[in-house]
Amino acid sequence: MSHTAPEFHDRMLSLGLARVSEAAALASARLIGRGDEKAADQAAVNAMRDQLNKLEIRGTVVIGEGERDEAPMLYIGEEVGTGDGPAVDIALDPLEGTTLTAKDMPNALTVIAMGPRGSMLHAPDVYMDKLAIGPGYKPGVVTMAMSPAERVSALAAARGCSTEDITVCVLERPRHDEMIAELRSTGAAIRLITDGDVAGVMHCADPHVTGIDMYMGSGGAPEGVLAAAALKCMGGQMWGRLTFRNDDERARAKKAGITNLDRVYTRDDMVTGDVIFAATGVTDGSLLPGIKREVTHLTAETILMRSKTGSVRRMQYRNPV
Ligand code: FBP
Repeated sequence: MSHTAPEFHDRMLSLGLARVSEAAALASARLIGRGDEKAADQAAVNAMRDQLNKLEIRGTVVIGEGERDEAPMLYIGEEVGTGDGPAVDIALDPLEGTTLTAKDMPNALTVIAMGPRGSMLHAPDVYMDKLAIGPGYKPGVVTMAMSPAERVSALAAARGCSTEDITVCVLERPRHDEMIAELRSTGAAIRLITDGDVAGVMHCADPHVTGIDMYMGSGGAPEGVLAAAALKCMGGQMWGRLTFRNDDERARAKKAGITNLDRVYTRDDMVTGDVIFAATGVTDGSLLPGIKREVTHLTAETILMRSKTGSVRRMQYRNPV
């Protein structure tokens, strides 16, 4: 008799995943605008871990808070869940935008993705050069090999509009100064964000709502895999290439099992199996409203998605304080 791997019960697990994401957002809510990044992150981590451990899964954190010796909780390799149920891999960022939360700026999210074992790239904690566009374009309409200006022209041609009608989202960092100057020379608009490139990439999936057509630039590699998981559910193309500043970072990649350090990963190379994805708004953003605090209630909104069906649910949760 052949051994079959236990099924990934994505439909059943998705509500549980939404609870995990919600709990992290609610826990960090009281730290919005308090100037304390660490406390906000810790509150989200604790809540996320508590909720994850209630799920009937044999979960392994593959994208987490860091290596085991750097992060006491939700570290890479940590086993979570009750220990019963399907073997799953989990990618998470309990608070994507710790500074956004501490400063009460837009688009802070809690983010978590889950898939069968081996479904997500074990990205080391290095930078990744990212490029993303929304759904509805032919495969490879823009490429990593193109210059930023060529990407804008190619996307404008595919959309049948002028380069001035294209909006590109970019993390505002000195390392992007040259790219920003080149993008400006095309006449494209640039939405500069101070943090939060998971949300930045996700914005491409819904350009009519967010006004963003394309995301480019480098940010965290773990965030790249989370963004790829989101786009796999929402639709859209994405590419990423790891970048290394020193030998220590190269060693991290090798330790994570990566042999070709120059590889360009497509969305489906980063997320090879069907995944479920949940994100809850912490501060107000273009994708999700943040936590609302009323006198008697807290309200949170979660986006819950399954790549198998492409379903996108928005769930509002209201709870007495
Ligand atoms: P935090 O979750 O630690 O706040 O990270 C936010 C973030 O902006 C990510 O979205 C992004 O990928 C990364 O930091 C960029 O890194 P850097 O700040 O080093 O440019």
